[in-house]
Amino acid sequence: MTDMTLFEPYALGPLTLPNRIVMAPLTRNRAGSGLVPGELAAAYYAQRTSAGLLITEATQVSAQAQGYQDTPGLYTQAQIAGWRKVTDAVHAKGGRIFVQLWHVGRVSHVDLQPEGAAPVAPSAIRAATKTFVNNGFSTVSEPRALELDELPGIVNDFRQAAANAIAAGFDGVEIHGANGYLLEQFIKDGANQRSDAYGGSVENRARLLLEVAAAVAQEIGAERIGVRISPVSPANGISCSDPQPQYNYIAERLNALGIVYLHVVEGATGGPRDVAPFDFDALRTRFEGTYLANNGYDLDLATARLNMGKADLFAFGRAFIGNPDLVERLKTGAPLAQFNPATLYGGGAQGYTDYPTLAEAATE
Ligand SMILES: Cc1cc2nc3c(=O)[nH]c(=O)nc-3n(C[C@H](O)[C@H](O)[C@H](O)COP(=O)(O)O)c2cc1C
Repeated sequence: MTDMTLFEPYALGPLTLPNRIVMAPLTRNRAGSGLVPGELAAAYYAQRTSAGLLITEATQVSAQAQGYQDTPGLYTQAQIAGWRKVTDAVHAKGGRIFVQLWHVGRVSHVDLQPEGAAPVAPSAIRAATKTFVNNGFSTVSEPRALELDELPGIVNDFRQAAANAIAAGFDGVEIHGANGYLLEQFIKDGANQRSDAYGGSVENRARLLLEVAAAVAQEIGAERIGVRISPVSPANGISCSDPQPQYNYIAERLNALGIVYLHVVEGATGGPRDVAPFDFDALRTRFEGTYLANNGYDLDLATARLNMGKADLFAFGRAFIGNPDLVERLKTGAPLAQFNPATLYGGGAQGYTDYPTLAEAATE
């Protein structure tokens, strides 16, 4: 057994990360009704800059892509300018930041859709899940199935948002192919009953994700793209009858595209790692780029998995909420602060930018 630690530099494409600890994407619903991130978001991300890489909260590629109240977008000039404040603040502190791009598909509500339209999905199957809308949690709306001729527009929305990300100063983008949102709705047959080229076989169900990845790679370069997947997660009421062959194929095709990392939620997102049998090593074998592991990691598990050669980088989600200096705390063995669940979604600075570092806590 070798003796690697999380606290050594790692080359991620053109970037040098000072450590192997990544901040996982975390939706916090504070972009306001304009869906524009502001100074508060800039302060929040800047506080967490000691992560090897920051991945932002999920950010919609179009108005139709929104599924929760007050989540930011990246499809208007005002949103590009808002995100520029964030990237400037992070870069000023020597950090690196990718933006996570999403389309929520059926995980939305008519009150969040342009002109109160039905949310879109591969098939007209309502998700058994809730969304955060009108300052509370509500059942998602009944979706309508996307027409075949609408899919190029969705691919193009991702492409344009990636171009906007570069204009906003991001170091790269993460395509959200996980957690029951649109791209995963196409991948998993519990949500996809199409009979055209985007439904049925393993290849067909992977098609939209792969088209998006190829378009984004053409736009900004594969070395600036990660893709997040969650093969066995039931998040947002989704299911898949054949995750192993489905995701083995996806890993092979993403490898051929040369994207820089594959971000894998191992197990149920935020829940048990062993929710269903799945051979994650099969993805690692097929994808030669960086394997970014997530879900339920702590320092010991991450260090063990690193030394077993199972992953290169580790994304921590919940631990970053209450610990802006998570890297330093893990390095020194300091205790981790808990976050307040009441301030996760929405609100202002409270429970967002007011969690102290260890040093700040000591002087309070
Ligand atoms: C408040 C909160 C918001 C989240 N938002 C996102 C998101 O925007 N995009 C995403 O892919 N995952 C999101 N997740 C999932 C996390 O990225 C991560 O997969 C999960 O918390 C498991 O990692 P952990 O055990 O280190 O917390 C969110 C999780 C939480 C707790």
